[in-house]
Amino acid sequence: MNELLRRYADVLESLDAQGLLRRLPPSDKDGLLDFSGNDYMGLARRPELVAAAAEAGRLYGAGATGSRLLSGNTPAHEAFEARIAADKGSEAALIFNSGYQANAACIAALLDATALGAEPLVFADKLNHASMHLGCALAGARQLRYRHLDLEHLKALLEKHASEPRPKVILSESVFGMDGDQADIAALQDLALAHGALLYIDEAHATGVFGPRGYGLCEAVDLAPTTVVMGTMSKALGVSGGYVACAGIIRDYLVNKAGGFIFSTAPSPLTVGAGLKSWELLPGLGAERTALLHRAEALRQGLRRLGLDPGQSTTHIVPVILGTPERTLAAKDALAGQGIVVSAVRPPTVPQGASRLRIGLSAAHTDADIARLLGALGSL
Ligand SMILES: Cc1ncc(COP(=O)(O)O)c(C=O)c1O
Repeated sequence: MNELLRRYADVLESLDAQGLLRRLPPSDKDGLLDFSGNDYMGLARRPELVAAAAEAGRLYGAGATGSRLLSGNTPAHEAFEARIAADKGSEAALIFNSGYQANAACIAALLDATALGAEPLVFADKLNHASMHLGCALAGARQLRYRHLDLEHLKALLEKHASEPRPKVILSESVFGMDGDQADIAALQDLALAHGALLYIDEAHATGVFGPRGYGLCEAVDLAPTTVVMGTMSKALGVSGGYVACAGIIRDYLVNKAGGFIFSTAPSPLTVGAGLKSWELLPGLGAERTALLHRAEALRQGLRRLGLDPGQSTTHIVPVILGTPERTLAAKDALAGQGIVVSAVRPPTVPQGASRLRIGLSAAHTDADIARLLGALGSL
């Protein structure tokens, strides 16, 4: 084998030996009971979304034809941003092709040492998503990582560095994607304001599921102009894309400095049309949200009765923490043998020793689906 290809092959062999090799799952899930998705409100296949995509495509084309700053700005993009800003209670919003791109581009730009006049001190929850780490890495910013959800630890770190004249930024998810637990957004914002820090919250897994109208955990909080809220259209909204809701000055700054916005073709009108329709449906889904969270609680109770560990989950994301990659893969395969699809999440996505099945519940699941899953887990 060619020397370069040999090196890549060695990496794959080493991952395989550790039980960490990733493989694409089967593409055909017909007839299977699927808990591996993030379509939390069961919207992805709603005909209204498909019709809205088609209508936006008819008006503006299948593709945006250029970046927003060139040819890609359409009334659909502007309407969606205006709606996000209004519903998030922020001055402005900006949309991106994906949540990953939004985090990488916005965090990198917001942490820029030249703009800030000094290298920022970045305080980050230990379990933040990979895309947030990427934003920090792109800016060359070192992170001071506080224990997961431990705001006393964050406070101690902020106090320790209080006398340093460097700008401060706090980064956290609101609902954590692998653990299904929640940050206290009001307390985070209070801490940020007390220390003059910018607060950046990732609502990827909360958008659609939490908040009085489904617009995320931040909906219940009066957002400060120095709080930036990011989210995705790719999970509960059932489409794809990312957004930030923020002060007007921050939006203008990102339009000028966020590489993933400037140098990337604008989101397709198809996804923007579908995303806006989905966003508009959220306030009407209160009963579905309540039922979803009740079902998640029933699942956690069932897991505990089986002696299984759902960690600290309080949401629609329920881990079954099994420890080793081998045990996790074996459980996933055994469930697959019974027609049930779950994700096996292993390091580096989660810490060593915390490999788990990840169960993503959707409003489309029924009580009978939960009973079937518990029955299958009980027979492992
Ligand atoms: C917390 C968090 N942020 C951002 C993303 C990226 O979002 P997207 O899938 O829209 O790229 C994810 C995706 O899994 C996520 O879990």
